[in-house]
Amino acid sequence: MTFEVRIRPSGHRFLVGEGESVLDAALRQGIHLPYGCRFGGCGECKSRLLAGRVRYPEGELPEALTPEEAAAGFALLCQAVPETDLEFESREVRLADDLRPVRTPTKVVSIERLSPDVCRLRLKLPETIRMAFLPGQYIEFLLDDGRRRAFSLANAPHDDETLELHIRLVEGGAFTTWVFEKLEPKAVLHIEGPFGSFYLREDSERPVLMVAGGTGFAPLKAMIEYAQAIGFAPPIHLFWGARAKEDLYLDALPRHWEQSMQRFRYTPVLSEPRESDHWHGETGLVVGAVLKAYPDLAPFDIYLSGPPAMVEAGRTAFLSAGAREDRLFSDAFDFAADTRRALAEQGNR
Ligand code: FES
Repeated sequence: MTFEVRIRPSGHRFLVGEGESVLDAALRQGIHLPYGCRFGGCGECKSRLLAGRVRYPEGELPEALTPEEAAAGFALLCQAVPETDLEFESREVRLADDLRPVRTPTKVVSIERLSPDVCRLRLKLPETIRMAFLPGQYIEFLLDDGRRRAFSLANAPHDDETLELHIRLVEGGAFTTWVFEKLEPKAVLHIEGPFGSFYLREDSERPVLMVAGGTGFAPLKAMIEYAQAIGFAPPIHLFWGARAKEDLYLDALPRHWEQSMQRFRYTPVLSEPRESDHWHGETGLVVGAVLKAYPDLAPFDIYLSGPPAMVEAGRTAFLSAGAREDRLFSDAFDFAADTRRALAEQGNR
């Protein structure tokens, strides 16, 4: 049985198959709605239902939807499965047709350790496959058992000789442990992508704040390298939060951008600097450092990327400091749903 879904205000319609989520059906048919994690954890796909009924897998509300929000008519489109025809309100993201996700094998070119628990993986696509993407989007690994693991692309689209991913070793995480311990160059991995509505809004002239936690640096790196390549004019200030100095696993790169890019600033922030770090920079939480530097966030476009707790805290604090909701873009790399249930094992991106 299929249901028809209508989006307001665009009036676009599409069909959703049996058991399919509204978001999956929309993406399959080339309709780009805002989304992030696709696991129900980030809230990026939250929309107001104007008509119709939905259900959620296992009958439980997803993490990013409170009972109050559900009662007020909001739904998470990445998890919501229609029970009737639907009408809902959502802005649509304008993406070109050639940005439709592709499924493809890739070959591992290199695995490079950047810190004790972060490695850089470079992948090569087959010669015949072109994967167009926007700076900041992510891909998913398709595992043999049907599970998926999402990672942001850390390279900019103009520099796509190889795809670059920053992978953090997650304690107890089967996939990341396998990457760190077993994966070798020349191995073939299957991916699908690009996904996500977290990308640089290059048509904006507003100053930009970029705020990363840990490997949340990866999609921002893609955006900054792209900004540099296209001569993006607005000033960019990057804040990168980590525990200790070694966790700023590519610290030399933003320091280099400060020299090579006009109007680029970099503020690293450590929450638990070690004595041996001899750290004289900012300390504490990265969100606090942003607010200390910019108490009024109204003028900025803000890009926020990192673990869900940091992104959630950042969104709340930044909105209270005047950030405009439609100019605050976030990418929370979420716990993978299946492993979260098992052992709080993370998929990170
Ligand atoms: S909650 Fe739906 S995309 Fe994250």
